[in-house]
Amino acid sequence: MSRLDRRKKLFIKTYGCQMNVYDSARMADVLAPLGYEAAPEPDGADLVILNTCHIREKAAEKVFSDLGRLRPLKDAKADDGEKMLIAVAGCVAQAEGDALVARAPFVDIVFGPQTTHRLPELVARAHREAGAVLDTDFPVDTKFDHLPPPRADGPTAFLSVQEGCDKFCTFCVVPYTRGAEYSRPVKAVIDEARGLVAGGVREITLLGQNVNAYHGETEDIGAARGAGTWGLGRLIRELAEIEGLDRIRYTTSHPRDMDDDLIAAHAEVPALMPYLHLPVQSGSNRILEAMNRGHTRDGYYRIIDRLRDGRPDLALSSDFIVGFPGETDDDFAYTMRLIEDIGFAQAFSFKYSARPGTPASEHGDQIADDVKSARLTALQSLLASQQTAFNSACVGQTVPVLLTGTGRHDGQMVGRSPYLQPVHMQAPQDWFGRIVSAEITEAVANSLSAVAVDAPGAKDSSTTSAAKVSAN
Ligand code: SAH
Ligand code: SF4
Ligand code: F3S
Repeated sequence: MSRLDRRKKLFIKTYGCQMNVYDSARMADVLAPLGYEAAPEPDGADLVILNTCHIREKAAEKVFSDLGRLRPLKDAKADDGEKMLIAVAGCVAQAEGDALVARAPFVDIVFGPQTTHRLPELVARAHREAGAVLDTDFPVDTKFDHLPPPRADGPTAFLSVQEGCDKFCTFCVVPYTRGAEYSRPVKAVIDEARGLVAGGVREITLLGQNVNAYHGETEDIGAARGAGTWGLGRLIRELAEIEGLDRIRYTTSHPRDMDDDLIAAHAEVPALMPYLHLPVQSGSNRILEAMNRGHTRDGYYRIIDRLRDGRPDLALSSDFIVGFPGETDDDFAYTMRLIEDIGFAQAFSFKYSARPGTPASEHGDQIADDVKSARLTALQSLLASQQTAFNSACVGQTVPVLLTGTGRHDGQMVGRSPYLQPVHMQAPQDWFGRIVSAEITEAVANSLSAVAVDAPGAKDSSTTSAAKVSAN
């Protein structure tokens, strides 16, 4: 085999949110025609991409320790007379491009979240040019117009419909790293969804930094389907018409953009799964205002009430930040109270991390780390007890489970419940990708065990009206 037709090995490591997971898959897609194939480890790879996250200090710092580990691998490859290109992509690349190259001069390519489509050109330049190639523009064209349609890879898929953020929460880097809010046109989204379903996908998670701020243009779809700009609720109703698409989810949403149509869709669209990740961050009005969240505690309660009126089995997830500058014991108590009042099936919680360039990082009243730690421990223990209670309440219920892979034990398959819990059961491997009706027999840590009660049909529905589970 000559050097020229040797297949090239690509290793991508993804940090951060699902948007990065989606983007990493698209990077692999755009590099495939150049002969790049996924490798399971960086050792010996021709191109290593770190697709990074800047959201908290810890996430950003991880990149530098990973780069430190890559350097000897790159040197070893050079000793063999071959080149390992190292690229840093994503939000750290966007936020710290120049500083990154100064700190890690062996990095060959630095590109931001909006220039994925230029990757082949950046790789070619990196082979030609000495020094690092930087591309952290926010181009006027969008990457989505240039990337090939994604390939289905199993029964579930992410579909990015919206990117960027104009909300400028005072703690958050995303508006600076991801740029201004942009929604893909309706037709592009529908075409991508149809392609995925044709490839065997049965569950699509619509992605966006503020996915319910979605406002897609309809110019290309014909007036008959409804002209003008569509919100997320309208888009979901349209996607639910696609034959074979049994399950729809969306993330991450913002309380400010939970409009009437989207709330109604939760009650009216059976394919829209009864599980919603709706970050609230804090239960204190004072802190919510200082965060520039644009909603109050009561506003959040009202949204949840309306959602549960239409869909009583709706399970909720959220994000919380403890120790935001100026947060008092009373403020924190309001957050604990909100968690008790609402009841969450699952949640993510973080200590506030001061991020360069954000207004909250300049606030005089930063909270001591031991106070943050104590609050986080208390909050996570409450959330963990709610998660356990929610999972235990599922025992004895019969729910549709979408089988997504093999389990750890012989003859075991793993799948997802409507509430996104991992579910293990004994099942033949050829049930992969099917939706099976299963009785939950046990709740263990973060997953469930179940037994199949019905052999699955290829096109059965995942409507979940049988399952009535409450978080309390
Ligand atoms: N767009 C989403 C979330 C984006 S980031 C939203 O509006 O909710 C994901 C989560 O990271 C946030 O919900 C928040 O809880 C957390 N986060 C963001 N910035 C942070 C910071 N500076 N310190 C700690 N947590 C942060
Ligand atoms: Fe960040 Fe706020 Fe935008 Fe979410 S809404 S991405 S937390 S600025
Ligand atoms: Fe992180 Fe960027 Fe996502 S900062 S959370 S990877 S948008």
